[in-house]
Amino acid sequence: MKPQLRSLLGISQLTTGQIEAILALARRMDLKRPPQLLRNRHVALLFYEASTRTRISFEFAAKALGATTTQVTPTSSSIEKGESLIDTGWTVANVGADAIVMRHPNSGAAYLLARYVHVPIVNAGDGMHQHPSQALLDALTITNHKKKLQGLRVVIVGDVYHSRVARSNAELLTRFGVDVVFCGPPDFVPEIAATLAPGVTACHDLNIALQGADVVMALRVQKERLVNKQLSVEEYIAEYQVTPLRMRLAKPDAILMHPGPVIRGMEVTSEVADGPQSCIHEQVRNGVKTRMAILATVLGAA
Ligand code: CP
Repeated sequence: MKPQLRSLLGISQLTTGQIEAILALARRMDLKRPPQLLRNRHVALLFYEASTRTRISFEFAAKALGATTTQVTPTSSSIEKGESLIDTGWTVANVGADAIVMRHPNSGAAYLLARYVHVPIVNAGDGMHQHPSQALLDALTITNHKKKLQGLRVVIVGDVYHSRVARSNAELLTRFGVDVVFCGPPDFVPEIAATLAPGVTACHDLNIALQGADVVMALRVQKERLVNKQLSVEEYIAEYQVTPLRMRLAKPDAILMHPGPVIRGMEVTSEVADGPQSCIHEQVRNGVKTRMAILATVLGAA
């Protein structure tokens, strides 16, 4: 294992040992009686972009471990007056934050801040680039249902091109021998997507991709991104929406995942999102445990 993890910026920085250690710690987190590992520590939540699940679960995770939290958002801070990311990060660290959890619309923003501030940075999503805590909680969810990751077929369907969730998941899962299939129209799944990691393939036919799938992971598709693309919204739904009929093409014990927010009737039908194979609520619950493990790890309390 590498020396102690200081910041969590992306999946590629982690060894498999570090991933396994975070998942093992997450499994041990007792939400009813959480260990007070972060008492007297302060966690700042610096969110330049909207978030429900990630922001709230990092906040719950920090508080459950005994830390205090502070929210910093563009509309309620001097970011609105034009203060730069680095000056904002310095300020947050110098007032006493022990760690900064950060979401930003620009790819690489968390990496940049980590070079300038003296406290750990946890990337809570940077542009189209990385969402490492999501990939870790998704791995935890999959391993709750499957004996091992090796040999699984995980189909990630939707707007892969713009998706930090797809990138982080594919990087993590292929490290453990998972076959990842990116599926969507060519604009959302260009052939080059298959070069992201060994073990990734691209497929533009969902009915083929789903055959033998162990996990079906639908991604959010923003309707405006279909404008001027090859498909209309109606055509996207007809070809790529995950429906009960399509779920039958996957293995009978396949699970359905979605990082949220779910746009019902677009990426998935409500029947699938609320159906017996859906793990969407479990993903959210696992988000708290996983983020507890991440915060304890980067703050040296694990
Ligand atoms: N999955 C995810 O990142 O959701 P939020 O944007 O609500 O945090």
